[in-house]
Amino acid sequence: MRDSPNSTAATFNYGVVRRFALMTIVWGIVGMAVGVLIAAQLIWPSLNFDTSWLSYGRLRPLHTNAVIFAFGGCGLFATSYYVVQRTCQARLFCGWLAEFTFWGWQAVIVAAAITLPMGLTSSKEYAELEWPIDILITLVWVAYAIVFFGTIVKRRVRHIYVANWFFGAYILTIAILHIVNNVEMPVTLWKSYSAYAGVQDAMVQWWYGHNAVGFFLTTSFLGMMYYFVPKQAGRPIYSYRLSIVHFWALAFTYMWAGPHHLLYTSLPDWTQSLGMTFSLVLLAPSWGGMINGILTLQGAWHRLRTDPILKFLVTALSFYGMATFEGSMMSIRSVNALSHYTDWTIGHVHSGALGWVAMITFGSLYYLIPRLYGRDRMYSVRAIELHFWIATLGVVLYIAAMWTAGVQQGLMWRATAPDGTLVYSFVEELKTRIPYYLIRLLGGAMFLGGVVIMAWNTWMTVRSATAVDPAIPEPQPASPPAGTPLPRPAVATTPA
Ligand code: HEM
Ligand code: HEM
Repeated sequence: MRDSPNSTAATFNYGVVRRFALMTIVWGIVGMAVGVLIAAQLIWPSLNFDTSWLSYGRLRPLHTNAVIFAFGGCGLFATSYYVVQRTCQARLFCGWLAEFTFWGWQAVIVAAAITLPMGLTSSKEYAELEWPIDILITLVWVAYAIVFFGTIVKRRVRHIYVANWFFGAYILTIAILHIVNNVEMPVTLWKSYSAYAGVQDAMVQWWYGHNAVGFFLTTSFLGMMYYFVPKQAGRPIYSYRLSIVHFWALAFTYMWAGPHHLLYTSLPDWTQSLGMTFSLVLLAPSWGGMINGILTLQGAWHRLRTDPILKFLVTALSFYGMATFEGSMMSIRSVNALSHYTDWTIGHVHSGALGWVAMITFGSLYYLIPRLYGRDRMYSVRAIELHFWIATLGVVLYIAAMWTAGVQQGLMWRATAPDGTLVYSFVEELKTRIPYYLIRLLGGAMFLGGVVIMAWNTWMTVRSATAVDPAIPEPQPASPPAGTPLPRPAVATTPA
């Protein structure tokens, strides 16, 4: 687990990793602040200040694009570039191209931040950006693939560590999804129409949408998990064999589950059943991966008491388990009949997005930032602890409020009197949601507050201590308790 003596900044390209890591925090604050604003608009609609730019319909896609592609995307670029270099013991392939991915990705984000509030949209969820920006995304993504796989090709160790399999699958799949879903006919510079129509359009869109969740928000972050959990725990992965089974089972199963977004629509019945069945099967690899991550802590559980970074990583895995269990249940038609169109879906989304995606990112960045800047640790460990608790409480408030609101919504909508008329009007039901929306707003604001604390801690880490050579050996965990099996198998089960 110790850094090899040649792990200097000169050997590895840490510059581009640093830039992506810092922008993850910046875009996290921006995207989540927009989330807090739209959460408030759902209670006080006048917060759009009668300005079309600030209307809910325009800010909502800005929120989703900012948190998924700007915050999540920069976090993934940073960690994948770091992990591929460390585990391949090779400098990033083609430095200038890596630099292009940084500036190109920031240009995509800025273009999104301008065009979405202007109302320029292709109207496909999570693929709202118009065709010129789609082309830029394609160029950046191809460059990303060249840099990532080029580094794998020039690796100095024979074995390809499992985290790279997850990152590699995400890069390849997102390329295919993006290109197929965005086949469109431009009519002006900022308007295009999809090449697909009707139910085919819906099917392609949710094949894309679900796999965007599966590969952008899950497989990729599992790559993070497979590197940073063993590193921070100071333990080998619980089962390397399980990680390989996890990889292939997950990659195969995710592809078929998209139709669960289109239950009770004009999509052929058998396709809906197929989507539901594969979503249930998906629970097995998802939980296999979660268990593999959590059991990696065997022999290091005591460290959870004192190590807030490990707390972030393990809590993220628990939320991953929860969100995937919930998702599989929501794919069952009769459950979906209640949950669809309600805040239950929003609760599910954010237990995955805040609990899993954001928490695993925070944990990984807290591990990464001091190493990138040659510090032995973050400026304030107590601030990490505070961030952890404020974020955990924030997610719990957010999702508990949404689950309750969602189930109540579904039940009130379907309540009928003996004569067949509806018991509640829509507005009656809507008014009952306000207290839950207030709790969600509080939870969201707390979660955002946590990221602001992280930004402060990062700033202090970067500027306060005297920089030392990033080649210093990483602090090693206390020796594992007696009786812990340590012999190394033929393949590397611990990342370099
Ligand atoms: C401070 C934290 C956050 C707050 C307050 C927040 C708030 C919101 C709100 C109010 C909505 C619209 C809900 C509706 O239309 O009923 C929403 C949607 C969404 N948010 Fe967040 N959000 C936060 C963080 C995140 C993060 C970190 C992610 C992803 C990594 C995320 C992903 C999404 C997605 C994917 C949707 C669309 C869900 C759907 O269409 O079903 N959010 N968020
Ligand atoms: C076994 C894994 C999972 C399954 C089977 C699953 C299933 C589902 C189902 C059935 C829906 C509701 C569709 C609807 O009624 O419209 C949904 C929505 C959603 N899920 Fe999951 N989910 C899983 C894991 C996750 C994870 C880990 C995340 C986040 C990181 C996530 C993010 C989302 C998002 C963003 C939506 C909203 C899509 C939209 O309508 O805009 N899911 N999921």
